[in-house]
Amino acid sequence: MRQWPTDRVLFGADFNPEQWSPETLDDDIALMGQAGFTVATVGVFGWALLEPEPGRYEFEWLDRVLDRLHNADIVVDLATATASPPPWFARMHPEAMPVNRDGLRLSHGSRQTWCPSNPDYRRRALALVDQLARRYSGHPALALWHVGNEFGCHNLMCFCDVSAAHFRTWLQDRYGPLDELNEAWGTTFWSQRYSEWIDVVPPRTTTAIPNPGAELDWQRFSSHAHLEHHIAERELLHELSPGVPVTTNFMVNHSVTGLDYNRWAPHQDIVSNDHYLANHLPHPAAELAMSADITRALAGGDPWILMEHSTSAVNWQSVNTAKAPGQMMRDSLSHVARGADTVAFFQWRASRAGAEKYHSAMLGHAGTDSRVFREVAELGEVLARCAPLAGSRTVAKAAFIFDWESMWSTDAASTPSEQHRYNDEVRGWYDALYRAGVTCDGVGPEADLSGYALIVAPSLHLVTDRTAQAIIGAANAGAQVVITYFSGTVDERDHIRLGGYPGAFCDLLGIRVEEFAPLLPGQTVSLSADADSPVSQLDQQTASVWSERGRAIPGTDVVARFADGPSVGDPAITRRSTGSGSAWYVATRLDGAGLDALLAPIIDGAGIEAVWHSRPRGVDVVQRRNETDTWTFVIDQAGLGVSVPLEGVDLVSGEASSADQPLRVAPGGCAVVHWHPPTGDDR
Ligand code: GAL
Repeated sequence: MRQWPTDRVLFGADFNPEQWSPETLDDDIALMGQAGFTVATVGVFGWALLEPEPGRYEFEWLDRVLDRLHNADIVVDLATATASPPPWFARMHPEAMPVNRDGLRLSHGSRQTWCPSNPDYRRRALALVDQLARRYSGHPALALWHVGNEFGCHNLMCFCDVSAAHFRTWLQDRYGPLDELNEAWGTTFWSQRYSEWIDVVPPRTTTAIPNPGAELDWQRFSSHAHLEHHIAERELLHELSPGVPVTTNFMVNHSVTGLDYNRWAPHQDIVSNDHYLANHLPHPAAELAMSADITRALAGGDPWILMEHSTSAVNWQSVNTAKAPGQMMRDSLSHVARGADTVAFFQWRASRAGAEKYHSAMLGHAGTDSRVFREVAELGEVLARCAPLAGSRTVAKAAFIFDWESMWSTDAASTPSEQHRYNDEVRGWYDALYRAGVTCDGVGPEADLSGYALIVAPSLHLVTDRTAQAIIGAANAGAQVVITYFSGTVDERDHIRLGGYPGAFCDLLGIRVEEFAPLLPGQTVSLSADADSPVSQLDQQTASVWSERGRAIPGTDVVARFADGPSVGDPAITRRSTGSGSAWYVATRLDGAGLDALLAPIIDGAGIEAVWHSRPRGVDVVQRRNETDTWTFVIDQAGLGVSVPLEGVDLVSGEASSADQPLRVAPGGCAVVHWHPPTGDDR
């Protein structure tokens, strides 16, 4: 058994040889050698072959795969195969099939057809894990265990009676007596007061707006129910396969909603993430960067695993666009720049049959004589040259707060505006920071904020007193803190913080908002900024989605006001000095130009210097460092071609670079400039 290698950047994919004839395995291994392939995730959907009948196991096929991979010096991330039970499981345990909100029990026939609270699922899954762990814990190829797959992707919530009982137990642990639950959920409203625990059920389809406290706790519970299963498998693996790290692949991406990864991350030995580009977004590359920045923060800044992404098209968007030439390299290096030390794909060989047969792979249907395979082999070479950067850390002096509970409570039914969606607000700010070339950590609400010079809290709707104090403390200690509308409004029970919005942050920001005045779809408002405003460029900028009626207290600078619309004359953007820092408030959704104008003095105030001052717009520049060396990633997302005047050697082209002889990066290309201090200059 090996440890997860930390001396190189691993390169690989999900490998599903069971879909092919046994002879194909030899071809695969030979071609993996050509591609520079070093890690295979095996067995993710193998349950039906591993346990063709209840209690009868067949491991020979998997033995052969692991042995061959090991002979080829490819390390294995071995899945516990519990993501998708076989059809016999549904026949034997029909009550383990998930039930949706409308009470419809789903059938097997796809994947992840199991209820996270079901004891038969738990029992049978653990029995399989037990077998796998005993058989393979000493296998020389094994380097990592991979629990399930993308927990909650398709079976996030189950509304069955077993789940209802599990929910009640979870609520009893959280609240103790029923009266506490009644208080937390505000059940005196609409005659919802509970007199017996047995009446508490999941928020199934009902007549009108459901109880928001129940909904919020149901989201928390659903995340927890999956986590409980993850922990059960992980503990068994730790017991039977000591020393081998355990992970499960997160889905931090544009549509992330279901699992609170801030709570999951502490239960990973190595954090891993799957990311697929969302081509319908205005800035897919920025969304990729945001996902990676959140994943890095989940990993506590340590290197993490990009467990899946795609070489080209996926199969599950409405139009599955193919990646442009060079895009796979840009996407992969964007993840590495932000801390990934493994670049892996779904999957090695494109399937011939099944639901994902039109999904791209490293080895597509066209075979090796193809653009994708050539680019895969090129990426393999580049990543091999990147070995020395393994273990280095991405440099970030700024942070944005990303909080699943705020997302759930913001996006709940019956809030001031359905136009306001949490992810849109966060992404708007992230995109602006990305345009400005500021690398940020996407931290959770309980993170240590003390190391950051700039902290953005977009719509941090639900805050605990502790989080509020941490943010206030960071501002007082010298950070530039930016808080946007709808933040600080409710506590962890989703109860309004009284006395004016934004509740927990009124004093920090020096503002009292009396009333939200959101804007209709398509409606915009203009801002006005006086000539002596710290950001006079905000004058005549437009904003949308939200406005507010409030006032600044003396000592708070009004940076811009609403010039028209429902909150005309009231502050739209304010700034207040506090301790040795500043607290900025933004009461509306700025467009890109407005965000850029506002962020410029904030970034200056935070003292965040660009890595490369003349960086052309649209070129992503991120640094990783260890004690001595620096790697500067330059990724030409604008497709213009750039001259890079940084000192060092480019690991992509192998060429040297300096201020006098800048490196030429072709349009859409990438460079990883490695700087090592001259001998005798080691810090
Ligand atoms: C992931 C999943 C893979 C594959 C891939 C396709 O969600 O883990 O098994 O389905 O998507 O993009």
